[in-house]
Amino acid sequence: MTQGEHAQNAARGRFITLEGGEGAGKTSNLLAITQRLRERGIDHIVTREPGGTPLAEDIRALLLRHHEERMCEMTELLLIFAARAQHLDQVIRPALEAGKWVVSDRFTDATYAYQGGGRGLNQHTIASLESLVQGALRPDLTVILDLAPLIGLERARKRASLDRFEQEKLEFFDRVRASYCERAAAEPDRCVLIDASRTLEEVQRDVLSALERVL
Ligand code: TMP
Repeated sequence: MTQGEHAQNAARGRFITLEGGEGAGKTSNLLAITQRLRERGIDHIVTREPGGTPLAEDIRALLLRHHEERMCEMTELLLIFAARAQHLDQVIRPALEAGKWVVSDRFTDATYAYQGGGRGLNQHTIASLESLVQGALRPDLTVILDLAPLIGLERARKRASLDRFEQEKLEFFDRVRASYCERAAAEPDRCVLIDASRTLEEVQRDVLSALERVL
């Protein structure tokens, strides 16, 4: 790396993503992360996927809504990456380049877990789209909240009516969970897998200790 590149890297914000199955407690833990960043005086934005821009939120609505026609796996995958391209262009890259930290509720690990594990799409297909859309950009830290789908789904189902993903069978979510665990094991420098079956206090303590890796 040249000296200029070193300086540029130092000025770039950090990219943190939060992942997990339905009802794993992403919202409360996201709040804990942003509160810690505020305490440390770190300028940051909070965003989510699919979504994060008006156009990407429209794609999200399309993805979550029920359709009479079955959405094929490849359409789903391409819509997710279309939303991601827009999100990266309009929100994530500009923020990181301006030195802001970005905290995203889900990112590409969700695609490996849901479209790869859940839907059974080939990992190499996902990896090709990942390179095409993101280039070399990857999160600096990914916190994965791990919870048995039976517990998570029960929590999620109490909250609202079921979207297109939430109405999937338990086996789908078992595969999603297994994929998240595989990714955490394959990339231990970037990913931290946290047992989300404990009290919120215990989970948050681990989430904040994972955050120390990048602070
Ligand atoms: P949410 O539960 O975090 O609001 O996310 C909406 C749904 O979108 C959730 O069921 C997981 C799904 N999803 C994918 O299937 N692939 C992806 O790449 C992302 C980001 C989300």
